[in-house]
Amino acid sequence: MGAETLPIGTKSQKVAMDKFVIEGGSMLYGTVRISGAKNSALPAMAAALLTNDDVHLGRVPCLADVGTMVELLEKMGVRTDGYEGGRRPAEGGGSFSKSITINASGINTHEAPYELVRTMRASVLVLGPLVARYGSARVSIPGGCAIGSRPIDLHLKGLTALGARVSMDHGYIDVTAQRLKGAKIAFDTVTVTGTENLIMAASLAQGTTVIRNAAREPEVASLADQLVRMGAKIHGAGADTVTIDGVDRLHGCAVDIIPDRIEAGTYMIAAAAAGGEVEIADCKPGHVRALLARMQEAGIDYTETGDSVVVKREKTARIKSLNVKTMPYPDFPTDLQAQLMVLMTQGDDTSVITETIFENRFMHVPELRRMGADIKTEGNVAIVKGGTRLMGAQIMATDLRASASLVIAGLISDGTTEVSRIYHLDRGYEFMENKLSGIGAKLKRTRT
Ligand code: EPZ
Repeated sequence: MGAETLPIGTKSQKVAMDKFVIEGGSMLYGTVRISGAKNSALPAMAAALLTNDDVHLGRVPCLADVGTMVELLEKMGVRTDGYEGGRRPAEGGGSFSKSITINASGINTHEAPYELVRTMRASVLVLGPLVARYGSARVSIPGGCAIGSRPIDLHLKGLTALGARVSMDHGYIDVTAQRLKGAKIAFDTVTVTGTENLIMAASLAQGTTVIRNAAREPEVASLADQLVRMGAKIHGAGADTVTIDGVDRLHGCAVDIIPDRIEAGTYMIAAAAAGGEVEIADCKPGHVRALLARMQEAGIDYTETGDSVVVKREKTARIKSLNVKTMPYPDFPTDLQAQLMVLMTQGDDTSVITETIFENRFMHVPELRRMGADIKTEGNVAIVKGGTRLMGAQIMATDLRASASLVIAGLISDGTTEVSRIYHLDRGYEFMENKLSGIGAKLKRTRT
């Protein structure tokens, strides 16, 4: 099999040190089709552990992280059909999503091994379903990652409140329970996967669970929708208090993954930065309200329909500098912070960007500085000077969303930019090179 036809998400795909080579300066015109959301597909796949029936998922994006979740489920003896990973579409940026059928009736181990959890901390999403359905789970403690230590203490505190026993054993967490019992839980910090784990666990608990200070992300609400289709009794998902009346069993379902709001926001910012006219199609404008509000504030012209946003900007049009603080949904998402920062290097004044969710999410700043950006950081605050001319350079991706910001910087820089280690991008952006070149970016993937 030629290198170019390697399926996305296989180990060999990650090993190859691919890079993007980008010629800056092109304006962008055309349509980008948004794929299914990574952060919705992962909990949706984990939820299949809650039943012995088939769970059919449509619009699953072809991403490395989805490949890792497939690998994890199959290692447990769970059958997954239909996801042979993506094949690069010949040309163009059409979404090439796959559907997948998962059946957990053959499960033979309840362990999430270190090498997979280390690769993708979202593997922790199997914790809640395993304990609820089988009474036991053994999950490697996810180490930190580039953006922060990312503990799972709130997940474990919630499961303990439901009656589970938690112990540590050589870098693994062992969680056991006879039958989980409904409880009142209040999260000290809003946690997306923590909320998702607890909603899945409570779905099969005895009695009622109330979760306060729950995450309100659309991915949480879409997981709850799926669980309700599987027979769960859940009210309030998407708001900060969720009530779950446990049931004895759940059955299969067929659902489509919701559009990826972070992918959509990334392309909206790319179009605003590069200039031109781009339709971001198959998305949910309602899921990116905080970004659209900031774009309006920055004086960037956009129009929206029920499932698309068109961003239009003359190359010379002014971009107003903004002060933005990342917060839990529905406020400005941390996953778009790095991308917005690149746009603000083109602002008409100075911008202040405050990252409140993760302790180390400015890894893109040193790389942007190498391209001429004038950004000072003091703790979790970045002071971004506008009006800076970016120059192409050899730069290195460090984490998923930082990589996307480096690609946007390459699009608007003078000259050639080489972004190495783009396996970070392959974790969360489906065929980005096809989608960007499909709207006129001069960008190609090369293999070193
Ligand atoms: C989810 O991560 C997303 N991942 C992240 O997207 C996203 O950045 C993050 O939510 C915030 O929106 C998935 O959904 C798979 P958290 P998650 O628990 O759930 C602290 C991407 O780019 N915390 O909401 O791991 C934590 O350290 C990824 O797609 C605890 O202290 O994030 C952080 O500071 C990156 N204890 C804050 O809460 C816990 O037990 C929010 O984390 C859990 C979290």
